[in-house]
Amino acid sequence: IKRITTHILQEMKNNGEKISMLTAYDYSMAALIDGAGIDIILVGDSASNVMAGHETTLPITLDQMIYHATSVVRAVKRAFVVVDIPFGSYQGNSSEALRSAIRIMKESGAHAIKVEGGAEIKESVIRILSAGVPVMGHLGLTPQSIYKFGTYTVRAREEAEAQKLLDDAKLLEECGCFAIVLEKIPASLAKKVAETVSIPVIGIGAGGNVDGQVLVVHDMLGITQEFKPRFLRQYADLQTIITEAVQHYIQDVKAKDFPNENESY
Ligand code: KIV
Ligand code: NA
Repeated sequence: IKRITTHILQEMKNNGEKISMLTAYDYSMAALIDGAGIDIILVGDSASNVMAGHETTLPITLDQMIYHATSVVRAVKRAFVVVDIPFGSYQGNSSEALRSAIRIMKESGAHAIKVEGGAEIKESVIRILSAGVPVMGHLGLTPQSIYKFGTYTVRAREEAEAQKLLDDAKLLEECGCFAIVLEKIPASLAKKVAETVSIPVIGIGAGGNVDGQVLVVHDMLGITQEFKPRFLRQYADLQTIITEAVQHYIQDVKAKDFPNENESY
């Protein structure tokens, strides 16, 4: 199997082939989606919500992200693996940012890291890139800043914020980032960004005129059920499948149907 690289991702943009990306946080799920042929696996700090049950992504630690990333990397044979560098481990101190990024790369074996923000974290981005670590940007709705925004509504609807986002995207490209995620912004703005920068732009709630799409795997498989934003397309209803399977098992145990003779030694 030919491994996906940043070079291949750039070629996909150049050739107009859309890039597919999903999150994963553990070995079993990563093995499934890598086997299915996904291009990029993101070990997202959404693990804080999906895996740990926190309300935001802020509480997850660098050690916990490395644990998730290590499990994912063990499963992956083809996909490019990107890891979110968590809140508090890169902002405002480029030496700490570099140290955090190096820990992720060294301890997990992942292929790149993702950071949230533009001009504010420029020094950290440059420092991490200088060590040869590929960096993916993330602009628009950046969940680590949720207490600044106050809500999870669409970002950059106003001209000033849209202009800053476009400038930040150009800045991230100039710094040397290999791709940018755009979250929950108007489709017209996302299209403009994807046309302006030459690196791949991956959208989530950013419309179809970008170079690829990303979703949280538990959301698109219907495992998480409370979270149903307009941008989410649900491809399966695993909550129903899992609930029914578990209920069936309980029934069989109670009815002394399981295990039967063939299932016993
Ligand atoms: O953590 C995450 O799942 C993400 C994606 C939504 C882009 O950052
Ligand atoms: Na994230």
